[in-house]
Amino acid sequence: MYACICHGVREHEVQECISAGATDEDAIGDACGAGTGCGTCLDRLTEMIESHFAAMDSQAGLSYIPDSATMPDSIAPVSPAVRLADSPYAGLS
Ligand code: FES
Repeated sequence: MYACICHGVREHEVQECISAGATDEDAIGDACGAGTGCGTCLDRLTEMIESHFAAMDSQAGLSYIPDSATMPDSIAPVSPAVRLADSPYAGLS
């Protein structure tokens, strides 16, 4: 599926740009041209960036939050909203 029709850039190509370090629409545009034409795709690019970093935060959270079934009642699990707010990517939304 195309992410950017103007430049014929497919979603997997945008994902590759994000995985390689593009953290905003300008960086994606510099890397592959997506978003540098009419601008219709910019919302989709933003969604892809947010989704990528939300998934990274989620994966990081799963690695250190213990199973609540085995935790003492006095220790509450950290909510995903708190982790996202503390994330270096919180300003992307
Ligand atoms: S559809 Fe991406 S710039 Fe036009």
